[in-house]
Parts: sequence; C-alpha cells; structure tokens
Amino acid sequence: MKSLIDILDFTVEEIDELLVVANDIIANPKKYSEMCHGKKLATLFFEPSTRTRLSFEAAMYELGGNVLGFSEAGSSSSAKGESVADTAKMISCYADIIAMRHPKEGAPLVAAQNASIPVINAGDGGHNHPTQTLTDLLTINREKGRFENLKIGFCGDLKFGRTVHSLINAMSRYEGNTIYLISPTELKLPDYVKNDVLIKKNIKYVETQSLDEVMPELDILYMTRVQRERFFNEEEYLRLKDRYILVPEKLENAKEDLIIMHPLPRVNEISVKVDEDNRACYFRQALYGKYIRMALILKLLKEAGTI
Ligand code: CP
Repeated sequence: MKSLIDILDFTVEEIDELLVVANDIIANPKKYSEMCHGKKLATLFFEPSTRTRLSFEAAMYELGGNVLGFSEAGSSSSAKGESVADTAKMISCYADIIAMRHPKEGAPLVAAQNASIPVINAGDGGHNHPTQTLTDLLTINREKGRFENLKIGFCGDLKFGRTVHSLINAMSRYEGNTIYLISPTELKLPDYVKNDVLIKKNIKYVETQSLDEVMPELDILYMTRVQRERFFNEEEYLRLKDRYILVPEKLENAKEDLIIMHPLPRVNEISVKVDEDNRACYFRQALYGKYIRMALILKLLKEAGTI
C-alpha cells in the first residue's frame, strides 16, 4: 500500500506528476469535483493545525468526497491509552485514506505499517512534514518556474523546523542549488540532515547567523517560526524567538524576483508590513497547499485501487 511518510517516498518523476495534476486542478477545478464521490478521508490530528488539516478537508470536499476525524488527541481514544497501531487498524474500517499529524516522530510510519489504507504524514514531531514540502514545491514551481540553480535561504529555527528538513531533502535532488542556513548556533540544522543530505550529496551550502549578509544573493527566502512547543526551556525560547524579524527595510538589497516563503503560522518573524510586498508569497503558498493535497489524495486512492 503506497503511503506518504517522507518526501523521499516519492520519486522526482512522481512529484512532477503531482505538480502537473495540481496545476490542472487550478486551471480546471470542475473536472475534478466528483472524482472522490463516496470516499472518505480521516484526519487524525494529535497536534494543533490550521492549514494542514483544513486544507486536507477542503481538498477532499472539492474532490466530492467526505471527511471524518478529530483535531486533538484528547477527543480520541488515545487519551485512554490506545496505540497508534490500533488506531490505524480501526480507522481502516471507517475511511479510505488517513492524514495523520502526531507529536511523536515516526508515529505516521507506525500507522502506515498497520493500516490497510494509505496514510499521509501531516507532520511528525520535529521530523518531517512532506505535504508541506509538496506545497512548497508547487509554490516554487508556480512562482519561480524551476527547481534548479536556485539560491535558497532557510532562516530561523532550522533545528526543530520539520518543514525545513523535508524541503532540503527535496531540493537536494535537483542540480545547481545553493542552500543558505541562517540561524543562531542554538537552532542550527541537525547534523543528521547536514551530514546525510547536504554533505553526502555534495550540495553547496553556507552557514551564517546574518540574514543581511546573504539577502542580496537569495532567489528564495524561507522564513520559519521558532518552534516554542519543542523547547524544553522557556527562557531559551524567549531569548531566541525574535532573533530574526523580517521588516521591509531588510528587503532593500534583495533581488526584485526574490520570493518570500513561510509554512505559517507566523508569530513575529515577518512584519505584517512585508505582506504588501509582491515578493511575499506565503498566503498564496497556503492556497497551493489545498491543490497539491487534492492531487496527492487522487494519486494515493488511485494506487490503492479505491477510485
Ligand atoms: N504549515 C502548517 O503545517 O500549518 P498548520 O500547523 O496550521 O497546519
């Protein structure tokens, strides 16, 4: 059974196919409006979410399907001690596909190993967030028109930012990219990502604490929130949370065709004044998330023989 747990579960060709379908959905939404008629998506969210859960739900409704699920662990039987494996077996009786977010790294993988329907990782702890990566890839595809020869700056919490880990993995499969890692020492990219992806694949990368220094180089600036919920120490969070705040003045030396991305939610790291800059594409990015999730649901249900 094909699931999506890690972005590398999909080949570059499969991702290209998803992008083609997502772009076709944007152009011809009516063509897709009944493709999942009578099918059910279960959204199992053991952690808070606005964009991921609701864009999955909107995606399934726009495909003509239905949605069931829960948005907090406390309202499911996990609060009584039910395991992820048993939950996945149960939901396989009630739905055709699962989207799961969980605070424990690897929980969606356990679900996929026990479910008899496709499972989509909608974010597991500080580990991976592959559907955000698909969203980011559709954004880059539509806004930049290529995945090669880009200078991409990741700024903020590169330690706990699971969207950063997944997108670095995805972009490492394309030629000629340079990755700029902009963070305080305490929030540096984990060694396992640096060693296993950047060094192993011989990807050019630069580590710096200064956003100003690299801003003129960048084609893409990917801002991130400092992930309060993953800190053990509140004082440390308070010390680091406002280290990078993007304000219009900081963009004075940036390229005219820079795109500013952010998986959202933002807290304080991008001033609302930046929203007026046409290089800010984080709200369009969130919209693209719905279309790529529609394409993903179609792909997995087709491969499962459900539609
Ligand atoms: N980008 C993202 O995962 O947002 P949510 O936490 O609101 O789903």
